[in-house]
Amino acid sequence: MSASIRATLGPRAFRTAVVPAAGLGTRFLPTTKTVPKELLPVVDTPAIEYVAAEAAQAGADRLVLVIAPGKESVAAHFDPNPDLEAGLAGQSKDALLAKVRRAPGLIRAQVAVQRKPLGLGHAVGCAEPLLAEDEDAVAVLLPDDFVLPTGVLITMAAVRQRHGGSVLCAFDVPREQISAYGAFAIEDTDDPEVKRVHGVVEKPAPEAAPSTFAAAGRYLLDRAVFDALRRIVPGVGGELQLTDAVALLIEEGHPVHVVVHGGGRHDLGTPAGLLRASVDFALADPEIGPELRRWLHDRLRQETT
Ligand code: G1P
Repeated sequence: MSASIRATLGPRAFRTAVVPAAGLGTRFLPTTKTVPKELLPVVDTPAIEYVAAEAAQAGADRLVLVIAPGKESVAAHFDPNPDLEAGLAGQSKDALLAKVRRAPGLIRAQVAVQRKPLGLGHAVGCAEPLLAEDEDAVAVLLPDDFVLPTGVLITMAAVRQRHGGSVLCAFDVPREQISAYGAFAIEDTDDPEVKRVHGVVEKPAPEAAPSTFAAAGRYLLDRAVFDALRRIVPGVGGELQLTDAVALLIEEGHPVHVVVHGGGRHDLGTPAGLLRASVDFALADPEIGPELRRWLHDRLRQETT
């Protein structure tokens, strides 16, 4: 974050973080027959808890989980479990007790139900009835996207304070991968990390993409987005796309900027990506990292001999 942006940091920009978690998780079948993919662990902690921690770190006090019917256990992860806690306390298992209590202590979780899989834009729209009248912006975090190190939402909030409107997070991806993402048409600002957006296209063909800057699953959206979401029509895949609502806002003169994130990213939406994130986090864990590193080293040596 540049000094000029940091200097404008003031009161928090949003209180509610919306987390679309209604997907069926077909890439993780058969596990997702019974376990929502948002509860699959990275090492020992469900992906949704990392997302909640990131939202809380950025100042949110409420998580609105947009779930499909049957995925209530995603929200239950944020409920206290008095019996389990009493049992662990009775055995003085303090470290485990702290782990069990962490999610309920992080943030207040509420549920909005998306009854039909009509797209990401529709899922975000399902959160609107839960917002208080004075909330003029919401954060949206896609739980499949791990943006590392965490904290980009804090930068995004500072950019909204400076420029107004909505602020998204962008990654520069290889052109051949851009068709998996929303792609931004951008121009420079006086801050190399911040670009003004003058268009966004969902999943363009590589040759048609306006740039290689891809939407990366973190959004700080002005409340005006809900009105735009009501006015868009189904787009790519026949779904109501969040990027199409953002594109409509831009057309109507609403300022949109991106923070270009130079850090890392894991895609938890695929088994390979989840595994990578687990290995990455496990290697950094003082308890299991050293042994895992030795094992991986030996295992990879076997591959090459
Ligand atoms: C969604 C968004 C897309 C964004 C991507 C980030 O796509 O529609 O704009 O770039 O998340 O992961 P999905 O991955 O759900 O197809």
